[in-house]
Amino acid sequence: MIINKIDALKGFMPQHEGIALQKWSAIFSKHGSVVEIGTYGGKSSLYLASGAKKNDQIVFTIDHHYGSEEHQIDQEYFDESNYDKSLGRVNTVPLLQKNLSKLKEINNVIPLIGDANLVSRFWQMKIGLLFIDGSHTKKSAENDFNNWQEKIVYGGALVIHDIYENPEEGGQAPYEIFRLALKSGYELFDREDTIVCLKKLVG
Ligand SMILES: C[S@@+](CC[C@H](N)C(=O)[O-])C[C@H]1O[C@@H](n2cnc3c(N)ncnc32)[C@H](O)[C@@H]1O
Repeated sequence: MIINKIDALKGFMPQHEGIALQKWSAIFSKHGSVVEIGTYGGKSSLYLASGAKKNDQIVFTIDHHYGSEEHQIDQEYFDESNYDKSLGRVNTVPLLQKNLSKLKEINNVIPLIGDANLVSRFWQMKIGLLFIDGSHTKKSAENDFNNWQEKIVYGGALVIHDIYENPEEGGQAPYEIFRLALKSGYELFDREDTIVCLKKLVG
């Protein structure tokens, strides 16, 4: 089964949240394409893409592939196999390529290698579903929300990962942009564990 194949890949999307992504993508991609900020190895991209297939839609997934703060040497989620000694840095492009090639039946993922702040300046298309799963610093999460949310179509969805109401359980930046969205014309549509799906009611 496709879900089990995606679940076996290296990445940061647990199966129960991935299934929710797949479901929301199937619903909201009828409004337009899916955009993801924070590809890593493409695990969440593949869940989103399997849902978007229902509407013959594409998932554009954006990452500079240098890794986030927690992926760097000596940090909690450093993975030596993603470290390219010749470049002297983390590079998750090979992991992404490996993962995508294991799921050839899902052919509607288009990776964009670049900084989401820069890409946003040139992005023209309306978005059916935006998934924010990039850097979790306060500044980055705010940038991702402010740069991208206006491109979501009316009736489309904003999905945010790693929502922790309790600061002892996790960083607060995703929760802060979740609260900001609730004050900016979005309402909660659904939630699965730490991942929320908001529906856009303005614009
Ligand atoms: C938590 S990981 C994403 C996990 C992924 N969604 C999965 O399912 O495994 C966050 C990713 O965001 C990327 N990232 C951080 N800041 C970024 C930025 N400004 N632009 C693009 N990508 C960024 C990092 O390189 C990292 O790969």
